[in-house]
Amino acid sequence: MPLTSYEKHLFSEKWLDAVKDFDCCASKNDNYEKLNDFIKKDALKYNQNNLSRTNILVKNGVCIAYYSLAMNAIKEQRISVEEEYKTLKSYPALFLTRFAVDKRYQKSGIGKAILNAIVKNACENQEIAARFLFLDAYPESISWYLSNPLFEILYTALSERIAYCCEKCVIEKLNERLRQGHTIECELNEKTDVDTLRTNCEKILTTHVNDIFHDLVPENSLLKACHSKIGLTFENNKPKIKLEGFNTRQNLSIIRDWLKNKNNVLNLDITVPLYADINQYYIAIYG
Ligand SMILES: CC(C)(COP(=O)(O)OP(=O)(O)OC[C@H]1O[C@@H](n2cnc3c(N)ncnc32)[C@H](O)[C@@H]1OP(=O)(O)O)[C@@H](O)C(=O)NCCC(=O)NCCS
Repeated sequence: MPLTSYEKHLFSEKWLDAVKDFDCCASKNDNYEKLNDFIKKDALKYNQNNLSRTNILVKNGVCIAYYSLAMNAIKEQRISVEEEYKTLKSYPALFLTRFAVDKRYQKSGIGKAILNAIVKNACENQEIAARFLFLDAYPESISWYLSNPLFEILYTALSERIAYCCEKCVIEKLNERLRQGHTIECELNEKTDVDTLRTNCEKILTTHVNDIFHDLVPENSLLKACHSKIGLTFENNKPKIKLEGFNTRQNLSIIRDWLKNKNNVLNLDITVPLYADINQYYIAIYG
């Protein structure tokens, strides 16, 4: 799909009318509504304040797609680059901050063509280098990005996110139980010392957390497939719920398959950081 049949314009005040009916929601979706709102309400401000640069594709005076870019750096030491560059502290990346095609034009190759054009422009840019194209994919769009074999998941960030989502989930369920009056009896009297109090507290929380994890596992097959557990620790006397044994690198293929099933992702409500190596991408597409 060549993009030459559309005009490309830097988004500015004169195009506000062209985006007023822009709609990328093929079905009702809060995340996609945010993308509709961004182009109508914020993109101009972001352009003016150098937070991102938005370009639009226009047909007959109407915006049919837009994308926003900014600069970024990937601080991932284990990223796959040539051996001699493995010691760099970070790698220059182009950040695709937002990207949407109007629902009337989706699935006709425009999205793919826009990505290709972004990579081509980045590769041919004579002023500034970017080695990676980085983006945060909404759960619903992950399958689209992962259908392109050049996109990979930035695994460390993914571990952190899944751990964070699990913690949130466990804490919500714990609060729910406490609100419902669930308690576990333990020793408590005037002479109870701090250490015993802490042990009691640990006992109560561990029992709840273990029960909650049992409830959670059937809902989140990934935790079971990766043999992970929920652990409870105390940091500065504050209880901390941690996901243990969730090693994204060791379980790479399980996670990739799991992420392709968008229902799974929505269950934990995570967005997934992805990157494409622009060098590879460019060679694959433009030879
Ligand atoms: C995601 C989006 C940008 C893709 O743009 P698009 O123009 O619809 O996609 P394309 O038509 O270029 O798709 C190209 C390829 O992906 C395939 N594809 C399309 N939707 C897919 C999906 N949901 N999952 C997997 N593959 C998909 C097409 O079959 C096509 O494959 P082919 O070239 O091998 O035939 C667009 O659908 C969109 O705006 N969605 C809503 C907003 C959004 O998700 N933005 C991204 C935020 S992270």
